[in-house]
Amino acid sequence: MTDRKLQTAVQGVRGRLEVPGDKSISHRAVMLGSIADGDTYIKGILDSDDVRSTLGAMADMGVESEWYDQDVIVHGRPLTALQEPSHPLNMGNSGTSTRLLMGLLANQPFPITYSGDASLSTRPLGRVIDPLGKMGARYVATNQRLPATKVPTQGLQGIHYRLPVASAQVKSALILAGLQAEGQTVITEPLATRDHTERMLQQFGVTITRDGQDIIVNPTTKLHATTIQVPGDISSAAFWLIAGLIVPNSQLTLTKVGINDTRIGILRLLQRMGAVITMANVVADGGEPYADLTVTTQGLQGIHINGDDVPTAVDEIPLLVLAATQALGDTVITGAQELHVKETDRIATVTTQLNKLGANIEAREDGFVVHGGTPLRVAEPTVVDSCGDHRIGMMLAIAALITDGEVTLAKAEAVSVSYPSFFADLERVVAE
Ligand code: S3P
Repeated sequence: MTDRKLQTAVQGVRGRLEVPGDKSISHRAVMLGSIADGDTYIKGILDSDDVRSTLGAMADMGVESEWYDQDVIVHGRPLTALQEPSHPLNMGNSGTSTRLLMGLLANQPFPITYSGDASLSTRPLGRVIDPLGKMGARYVATNQRLPATKVPTQGLQGIHYRLPVASAQVKSALILAGLQAEGQTVITEPLATRDHTERMLQQFGVTITRDGQDIIVNPTTKLHATTIQVPGDISSAAFWLIAGLIVPNSQLTLTKVGINDTRIGILRLLQRMGAVITMANVVADGGEPYADLTVTTQGLQGIHINGDDVPTAVDEIPLLVLAATQALGDTVITGAQELHVKETDRIATVTTQLNKLGANIEAREDGFVVHGGTPLRVAEPTVVDSCGDHRIGMMLAIAALITDGEVTLAKAEAVSVSYPSFFADLERVVAE
């Protein structure tokens, strides 16, 4: 457990950063590359604890991969050639690895046990176990939490399933299982969530069709190995976008950031708060689009964020709460109950930790009321806690930049789940 003294009341954040590769896309590239018919090159893959959980699980089933600097080559093998793991697959802190692999491996003829850290072992799995059960895969899991064991499966059936919650993890698990099922699988999303799985399957030669809110999966397990270019993670860039907006005298450019429409809710919401974020060097020629984003210090105004806004900004809500503490007027966030079941209960952790720095945030069952125009300051040295949640830790480090007084972050090591070089990048952009 590492305590880290945070930089406070800085004079500005300035410069250019290339944030690490997108976590969601990196997981999917490893999984699809693992079952493709040859070598898949994953360029700019995120090297973090979560992605290593996915790589480790595939290695446990006989898939070999090699690192070359920032790239990974995965030597694919057919789904039918995966080996029975000799021990539980260790998912660490990674919900995406767990839920997507539960779908990808749903049809394996051998038992597979999944385990995870204390946080992951509290997160709900019924949302994948139930529909996969309807398809013919049976998981044994007390309270539908990890550890979970899949009993050997004898064939999957396509289903028509309406997702009770808007979740890209669940949608992706069902797409991956649907590829191996008999008959068509149709998944209906209540609201559009990130579509990286659908897009990437196209790159591997498999077409998934979309008809309104329906995603239609026809069975095929023939994936053609390819090269995947992973863009920068908008969820990591978001820390710097907020820093650039709320720290005085700032200007930051984030290069080659993924701008997939199903991920950039944060940009749309910041624009509604009055922010101007410029986009340059847009590349949108297949795969995932990316661009350079530039932001300068700006005044913001409070807004109402509702459930329709949440899926495309779900990981960035903690940062929007921080931005809202500095906005003119109140910001009301509703329909964000999914935050209760992230790496921590983020409605609780955001409220408790930011209020320690002088914010005035009320937690609500499905969101927050954030009172704006609140200077952050601590009268005496204060410890804020990531609570083991990478995004909470990084959000607090950004909050500290505008806090007067002495602030220490407990469990700072949590950032390595998605952004191991976060503190090095922070030191680079803080003006002398
Ligand atoms: C993810 C989907 C989201 C997101 C998570 C990554 C993905 O989770 O919060 O960080 O890669 O599919 P949900 O599907 O639970 O909303």
